[in-house]
Order: sequence, then structure tokens, then C-alpha cells
Amino acid sequence: MPQVKIYSEDNPNEFEELTELTAIQAALFKFNIKVEQWQTQSKLNPQAEQEEILEAYEADCRRIMQAHGFAAVDVISMHSGTQLAPDEVKKIRQKFLDEHRHADDEVRFFIDGQGLFCIHEAGKVVQILCTAGDFISVPAQTRHWFDMGEQANFKCIRFFGDEEGWVANYTGDKISDRFPKLEDADLSLRGVQSTTSQSHSELTV
Ligand SMILES: [Fe+2]
Repeated sequence: MPQVKIYSEDNPNEFEELTELTAIQAALFKFNIKVEQWQTQSKLNPQAEQEEILEAYEADCRRIMQAHGFAAVDVISMHSGTQLAPDEVKKIRQKFLDEHRHADDEVRFFIDGQGLFCIHEAGKVVQILCTAGDFISVPAQTRHWFDMGEQANFKCIRFFGDEEGWVANYTGDKISDRFPKLEDADLSLRGVQSTTSQSHSELTV
């Protein structure tokens, strides 16, 4: 279940918190953001490769690809226990943290782990903490950033139109510096140390 906090864009200290799915969906509808809860495939091996994962979620993937006119899906995995230099992790995290837009919708399904989507529209900042089973769709041209946190632990299905569509067009606004990070949204992540790697060659934000 996603956890949602809604801030005024000029006040990162006060927020309205939503934890109930129908209230979250109604609030996010105003920003054209869609969230869903998918049935997670509990039989899926945590070490499953992309092909096996996409097969397990085939029906949902087909539905989303048709609805958005997407051409492709893949699985991105960032997790502890593998080797990416801490500097590299920091760099990737910052790339995601800088506010940007895309020409296509940004659509993700969280199989495992967590990530914080931050939407900046209509004078508000909406932070959506996604965990396993959460689906999120952020419309094209929406200003947003994403925080994978210091320890970067997530596995997501990503949906794509074409290469142009998922290029990040940075706004130059450093707003993410002022707002809470993943570790603030998910207190269970504080103080956890690990190394990080990616198992996919392409990263988009
Ligand atoms: Fe993005």
C-alpha cells in the first residue's frame, strides 16, 4: 500500500498524510496520477530473472501496455549484496533526485523493495512511498523526482513507449534538496548499511 504525503511546495515541514487506498486514489486523481495495488506473485523466487517475472505479471503488463500504448517492458533491480561503488550509487541517486520531466508517462510496478516518487505540480509536492505490490503511473510532462535512498533496494517493472519518451528533461529546480528523503519517509531504513548494484544496463529516472 503506498503512503502519501501532500505538502505545499514552499513548506517541506507540514503535510497531509493519506494511508487509505481510496482516499489516496482520489487525492492523486487531481494530479492525474494513478496508483493501484496488484496481487504480488508470492510463488515467484526472489532471485527470479526478468523473463520469469514478466511472465508472472503478464496479464497486468498487457493491460497497462494497451492502456498507455507502450511498446516494451523490462525489470530494473537495485539491491544490496552486489558491487557498485558507493560513489556510483550516489551519482545514480542524484540523477534520480534532480527534478525532471519525460515526454512519456512514467509507469512502474514495485515487485520488491521501496522507492519514493515526488510529484511537483499545482503548487504542491506529493510524496508517494511505493513498496511491493504498488503500481504507479505519472503522466507525461509532470515535474517529478525519485529517491531510491542510500541503500537502494528496489525491483520494478518499467513500461516504455520509445527511447525519446523516457529521456529525463531536467528543470534545473533544486527543490528536492529541501524536501524529505526516502529515509525520512520510511524510518525503518535509517542506519542500514549495505552495498548496491544494478542488474540492468539502462537506468532511467
Ligand atoms: Fe522520471
